[in-house]
Amino acid sequence: MCARGAGLSLNAQPSSRLGQLLSGALERRRWLLRDLVAEHTDCFRLLHGAVEGVPGLTLDRYGSVLLAQTWKRSLDESDVGVIVDLAGEALDEDLLFVWNHRDGGAGSFARFFDFTEESGFVGRELGLMYDVRPRHRGADPLLFLDLRAGRRKVMEAALGKTVLNLFAYTCGLGLAAMQGGARQVLNLDFSASALEIGRANAARNGFDLQCFATLQADCLPALRQLAGLPVKGRASRRRSYVRLQQRRFDLVLLDPPAWSKSPFGAVDVVRDYMSLFKPALLATAEGGQMMVTNNSPRVLWDDWVAGLERGVRKLGRQLRSLDRIRPEADFPSPDGQSPLKVAWLEV
Ligand SMILES: C[S@@+](CC[C@H](N)C(=O)[O-])C[C@H]1O[C@@H](n2cnc3c(N)ncnc32)[C@H](O)[C@@H]1O
Repeated sequence: MCARGAGLSLNAQPSSRLGQLLSGALERRRWLLRDLVAEHTDCFRLLHGAVEGVPGLTLDRYGSVLLAQTWKRSLDESDVGVIVDLAGEALDEDLLFVWNHRDGGAGSFARFFDFTEESGFVGRELGLMYDVRPRHRGADPLLFLDLRAGRRKVMEAALGKTVLNLFAYTCGLGLAAMQGGARQVLNLDFSASALEIGRANAARNGFDLQCFATLQADCLPALRQLAGLPVKGRASRRRSYVRLQQRRFDLVLLDPPAWSKSPFGAVDVVRDYMSLFKPALLATAEGGQMMVTNNSPRVLWDDWVAGLERGVRKLGRQLRSLDRIRPEADFPSPDGQSPLKVAWLEV
């Protein structure tokens, strides 16, 4: 379903349950949105699902798009009217409403209602421009908004550094590093189309592409080689993989999916974070920094951090500091246990 904000002739019903909950969510964001707009950020979350009383519905602004995503629930015309009217009023802008219905399972598919692709969707965050077209090959949006706090931190820390961005997707963290003055950024992912979008974003922001490399590669063998470890498993003999020299980086960014499988093994952040963390640490220069994430709601911060601390000790490295980076206020978490956990380490 697709409608231009104020032009929609549906009657908003602020007295509806959805209307009340959305009004509350917008009111709680009033100061945050003012600050984000002042720093030219126009990509942010407006309604965060169950945490704000509306399970199965999130509402985001991505530049000129108002994106509703649903999981295991639907929207009717009056819901759409409420959303478009209340968001339009709060933002004082006329946005294109886009609804992406997702089935909610792993590898969930996307179904865009009455939406024909247009080109030229550009969103802004922290001084950078991103391709935020709502419809593309995958189901997820092209920029993960809950990681804004991480991109902000990377921007602050990257000056003059060499940066390894693992599981780079559309290179959001790599672009933030470039904006922060990184000397060299290497983005790794096995999705050629995601990296292509990252490269286009780098060009759109005027970055020197000599300093911004993208490499389509399976991160599992690639990371082990960078760490100076042997590539594991039978696949290493049967399958070809990108050959890399051992190398250390000043800043390593490890933001993996919760789970994925490749011929070289599995990414499983619940059962085996160490098989990623250990080589990532070995690929980090002595006295360097890491930003590592875990996006599984099944993993608690304290348990995860205890594992990271053990991992650092086991490799005989010194943990100089470990800080938590929390998602910004458009991703509220009343119990303090947001699914996305981000740690910043000096090692
Ligand atoms: C959650 S996204 C990462 C988000 C990204 N770090 C960001 O800042 O937006 C997960 C990414 O991991 C990639 N991926 C999953 N398993 C992989 C593997 N074994 N090797 C390389 N890329 C992988 C997917 O293609 C996807 O782009």
